[in-house]
Amino acid sequence: MRKVSSIIPSGTSPAWRKVNLLGSICLLLLLHSCYYDKADTLYPTKAGTSGACDSAGVVTYSQKIIPIFQTACYSCHSISNPSGGIVMATYASDRAIALNGKLFGSISHASGYSPMPKGMAKLTNCQLATIKKWIDAGALNN
Ligand code: HEC
Repeated sequence: MRKVSSIIPSGTSPAWRKVNLLGSICLLLLLHSCYYDKADTLYPTKAGTSGACDSAGVVTYSQKIIPIFQTACYSCHSISNPSGGIVMATYASDRAIALNGKLFGSISHASGYSPMPKGMAKLTNCQLATIKKWIDAGALNN
């Protein structure tokens, strides 16, 4: 508040001070409501709210794995665009790289594998744990 009054030129009439004060309060209220809007999306509390990575419970190919691959892999790896000769985006092809070790080797940036997703940020620990869990359970089509 000290800052607000210091930017008012000296000799400003009391009426102007009042307007300035009201403006500051409105601004504070506005920022305050923005804060709450963001908090809702940043810290979702309801189950199933998008944005949260959930590796707990049974990891299913359809519910947990495909969404990760869709955002991070399928644009470069599909039947029509098999970058580096790696096909993905069908269960059989996703299962094949899961079981031959190339999937986890590349996404965990293990030595000897080309780090994936290429040119993008490494998958989060939660996404890696989710995929690991799916592979360890036999890369099922569930
Ligand atoms: C921007 C394009 C792009 C994206 C996104 C991408 N890849 Fe790749 N991927 C490539 C290219 C190109 C190669 C060939 C090797 C190289 O150039 O590094 C490759 C190679 C691979 C290989 C073979 C690696 C090896 O060392 O044998 C695997 C497995 C793979 N990608 C899996 C994935 C997975 C899983 C994802 C998603 C998490 C993914 N890629 C995302 C372009 C991409």
